[in-house]
Amino acid sequence: MVMRERWIIPMLILLMISSCSLGLPSFPKMNNASRPIATKPSAQPKAVKTNFQSCDPKNLPLSEGIPSVPPTPIYNSSVPYPNNTMRSLADQLNLYIGAAGDARQYSNIEYVKLLTHEFNMVAVENAMKWHIIHPEPDIYDFSRGDALVAFAKIYDLAVYGHVLVWDYAYPTWVTETSRTRDEWIQLLCEHIKTVTSHYQGQIYAWDVVNEAFNNDGSLRNTLWMQKIGPEYVAMAFQWAREADPNAHLILNDHFAEGMNSKSEAIYSLAKGLLMDGVPIDGVGMQMHLLLWGPPTTEELLMNMKRLSDLDLDVHITEMDLRMNLSSESSKVKTDAQTDTYRRVFDSCLAVPRCKVFVTWGLTDKYSWIPDYTGYPDTPLLFDENFQPKPAYYEIMKLLQEQFQ
Ligand code: G3I
Repeated sequence: MVMRERWIIPMLILLMISSCSLGLPSFPKMNNASRPIATKPSAQPKAVKTNFQSCDPKNLPLSEGIPSVPPTPIYNSSVPYPNNTMRSLADQLNLYIGAAGDARQYSNIEYVKLLTHEFNMVAVENAMKWHIIHPEPDIYDFSRGDALVAFAKIYDLAVYGHVLVWDYAYPTWVTETSRTRDEWIQLLCEHIKTVTSHYQGQIYAWDVVNEAFNNDGSLRNTLWMQKIGPEYVAMAFQWAREADPNAHLILNDHFAEGMNSKSEAIYSLAKGLLMDGVPIDGVGMQMHLLLWGPPTTEELLMNMKRLSDLDLDVHITEMDLRMNLSSESSKVKTDAQTDTYRRVFDSCLAVPRCKVFVTWGLTDKYSWIPDYTGYPDTPLLFDENFQPKPAYYEIMKLLQEQFQ
């Protein structure tokens, strides 16, 4: 849906001028320096050695806003947030604790209160995926993403952007059109630059390339691998950096949290990209776990440490933990879930370059897992009734211990 109103163009120019004059983007303030201050990547894009071509963003990033966020805050955001929540403690520790979601949940006051009291970041679960944000060749629909970013501004939440390059969520006009390699490069470049330019200065970190690997450590034969070749990864990071110099640029994947063939391949790729001057700032560990067989603390720490030794951030980006396909008693399952959340969060606290801990959803009520498996499940920190679960209290305990 392309916005046709003429007033929007001067308004956007004004907004662009005012955002330029502000300089660096503003994220929720972090007071206590007991964890290192987040380092912003260099504003100067470094050169990519290989076969690189660039593009200009499309000059049509205008969408008809669907007002999925109420025009005014649904409760008074100037009231101080409660001071014994994950948010209040994480703020002081220079740590982002986030929950993935979509703006359509933001008219539920119970949801908004829980999210804004307990979290200082929101991750974009679906609103910035290709099929939603770029549904037709010359049409970008930013309405859902804009609603989410507007909401985050009201409640002083950082935004974790997801996702620029993936192998899913494409409309058929992308996948079913025949193009030369140069045209595929042009298409991906324009998409990345148009989206990152639109949100320039408003996104703390972007999942630039998501799920690029097979479990054996080979690069997946994704659309972009087939049409461009393995260079698509370096190109994507470079284009994202050119369009938004301040966003942290992340290579994100799953089942690569511990030490295995996939995490080895991610480590090697990240190291190679850095050596080639590609602007990658971190690796995301999705952390979609099953009840049994999560990574041990030792291997998780070993993996996180070797990545941070490369001078990379290493974030927990999509944590949840499926329970209901296991047949043990509810107490056994709850204990195992609690223990895994505790170990993962503790590992993040132990590694200074782990600056983000995101759960893939706020409450069990809105988790993606039941839709996916066809079974009810309870994978998150808050239950169907928005009540904290034992894993939440373990995380609170770990946060409180940081101040003792
Ligand atoms: O909104 C429509 C609704 O109108 C319709 O009635 C319903 C019918 O199925 O579909 C709804 O859309 C679904 C959407 O989730 C919102 O619930 C889509 O079909 C469904 O495909 C979509 O699934 C998302 C999935 O990615 C695929 O994009 C999940 O919400 C989202 O949690 C999941 O997230 C991924 C990350 O992007 C990457 N890492 C893994 C993670 C979990 O799979």
